[in-house]
Amino acid sequence: MSLVDDVRRLWQMPDEKLKEMASEIVSSIFADEIFIRYIVEVSNICQKNCLYCGLRRENTSVLRYQIPEDEVIKLVEEKVNCDGVVSFVFQSGERGDEEFVRYIGRIVEGVKKIGDISVVLSCGEQRRDVYKYWRDCGADRYLLRIETSNPSLYEKIHPKDLLHSWERRKEALILLKECGYQTGSGVMIGLPWQTEDDLISDIVFLKEIDIDMVGMGPYIPTPGTPLFGEKVLSKEERWRLCCKMASVLRIVMPDINIASTTALDLVHPFGRAEMFDWGANVLMPDITPMHYRQEYLIYDGKPALGCDYCIERYSDRILWREKGDPVHYLKRVNDF
Ligand code: 5AD
Ligand code: SF4
Repeated sequence: MSLVDDVRRLWQMPDEKLKEMASEIVSSIFADEIFIRYIVEVSNICQKNCLYCGLRRENTSVLRYQIPEDEVIKLVEEKVNCDGVVSFVFQSGERGDEEFVRYIGRIVEGVKKIGDISVVLSCGEQRRDVYKYWRDCGADRYLLRIETSNPSLYEKIHPKDLLHSWERRKEALILLKECGYQTGSGVMIGLPWQTEDDLISDIVFLKEIDIDMVGMGPYIPTPGTPLFGEKVLSKEERWRLCCKMASVLRIVMPDINIASTTALDLVHPFGRAEMFDWGANVLMPDITPMHYRQEYLIYDGKPALGCDYCIERYSDRILWREKGDPVHYLKRVNDF
């Protein structure tokens, strides 16, 4: 039977059964422990114009910022000392200019000097030499969502130009793996025009590209973006699909890291916490200082979302002082 048939067969199983199977896998591989990474949204300046995102270039109502690198490094140092966390994600809008490339490079080098810290970047599509340069600076992991595995749906939710090409994005994921990154990707769930077949294909895509980490979340319609007003599924339905996606992915890729993402809290009152029953094993609290965070408006309602409730609920399951490399990656490199 082909992979797509396997995934479809799982997809048709009752949700509660999938939940049970995914939880069993998480217990046996991760002993129900949760990896933690702190995320800093270092800049909201973006050259892209994705039709769903509040940070798109043409949205002039956003106050654009770039946190000075010494402020970022100091923040990380404080958190390492206070909480013992040793894995940090630096996320930004996408930019290709030299100034930005050096800025990120300096953050990576500065953070690496603090101690044995796992540095994760989420800074969009870049040229091979940039990925290589950041890796040489010390970056360990990279997150780049494919957004959807369906090229024609991708076209519908992005402007039609070379800056927004599905093929280029897929190529970027391959480059990242070639540069030796632990590579993460993911999709949005419940996009306008997206079908359940698209979601099944998303799982097949992530498996075929042999991804190490996944972050997926519900699509959140955002006022002021071109896609706002297109018909979307109810919150309940998007939540249900997010649960199904996480659990099926966990069954298909048992040893990858699956993050419980912030946007889940917008489709379910305790979405981010509940997702740990559906196959997730990574929590990513946002530590961006509030005066910057309130401008990182990717989607409607985001800045209000703290995750202290998750930390409280799971304090005894969180591995505070561990980097939490994906088991999948460790196996992948040891196979070479
Ligand atoms: N709803 C949900 N997720 C979104 N993203 C961007 N805009 C939205 C939205 N309206 C996600 C994309 C991107 C990540 C940084 O945020 O998947 O890769
Ligand atoms: Fe920029 Fe990312 Fe938003 Fe697209 S999704 S506009 S690349 S921040």
